[in-house]
Amino acid sequence: VSKINKKIGFIGAGNMGEAFVGALIRTGIFSPSMIYTSDISAKRLNILNKTYGISVMKDNFKVFSECEIIFIAVKPQHIYQVLSQISEHEGYQIPNRKIVVSIAAGIPLRKIEALLYNSLNNEAIERLPIIRVMPNTPALVLAGMSGMSANKYVKAEDLNTIKIILEAIGKVIEFKEEDLDAVTALSGSGPAYVFYIAEAMIEGGIKVGLEPDKAAMLTVATIQGALKLMEESNESPEILRRKVTSPGGTTEAAFKILEKNKVKQNIIEAIRAAARRSKELSQ
Ligand SMILES: NC(=O)c1ccc[n+]([C@@H]2O[C@H](COP(=O)([O-])OP(=O)(O)OC[C@H]3O[C@@H](n4cnc5c(N)ncnc54)[C@H](OP(=O)(O)O)[C@@H]3O)[C@@H](O)[C@H]2O)c1
Repeated sequence: VSKINKKIGFIGAGNMGEAFVGALIRTGIFSPSMIYTSDISAKRLNILNKTYGISVMKDNFKVFSECEIIFIAVKPQHIYQVLSQISEHEGYQIPNRKIVVSIAAGIPLRKIEALLYNSLNNEAIERLPIIRVMPNTPALVLAGMSGMSANKYVKAEDLNTIKIILEAIGKVIEFKEEDLDAVTALSGSGPAYVFYIAEAMIEGGIKVGLEPDKAAMLTVATIQGALKLMEESNESPEILRRKVTSPGGTTEAAFKILEKNKVKQNIIEAIRAAARRSKELSQ
């Protein structure tokens, strides 16, 4: 692993903040002494300090001023309050380069820039690059898929650093910011589509006579197996599907129903609706 010898701060020590802290320590990318977190909840801070031996504090500004990389990991509705609190602090200045990373869903770079850049001169702004990341919930089990977008002050070197950090919780791809609504609709909301298919498979299994817990086991293991095949074979999901569908067989009987009910088109429509909603929400 490439060890990063910088101080990293997490403002917001909830699910995501903790997933990052745990992953960064386990992979050895950061030592606990280089990790700072702040949160309004003293209880959360206590847990993180006890579990990981990192520095914890109530003061968001202190984390911001102390660290060279700052992750904003509060809920989207709290981000404006957190960023204003920092930028309106009497000690707010950027003497040294700092990378700010926001993982708040649906908060565009321009809004973060508006708050953080407002009182800074050009030189200071250039020292404060901002990256927006759209992760998804499997990040909590280190199998996340994140899309990221950088603002114009981000250098290749900053991007590499952040990529290493994001890879501790899964995979990451860079996008133009305008594509993040599509990313949100596909990988952000995507786990829910798979859970929905799993729900349907479990209910279907029960309908054809299986006990609920066994139907659930068969479903999860089948999805896991299908995933592994997709990952390890060089063939597209469509080819893999055709391979298990023999003429006149059981899978074909199933697909007659799926096709008749336009299940594929409907999933595509669902993703389009999610992308439209993401765009509306980030206005
Ligand atoms: N969870 C996911 O899988 C996922 C996926 C994609 C994107 N995201 C994004 O990740 C961000 C964090 O999500 P999460 O699930 O980790 O949320 P979370 O568990 O609610 O964590 C946020 C933490 O920040 C704290 N907080 C609230 N206001 C604060 C303030 N003013 N200063 C400092 N800390 C404050 C919260 O405390 P209280 O609980 O006391 O309010 C909570 O401990 C969100 O913006 C979300 O959009 C999450």
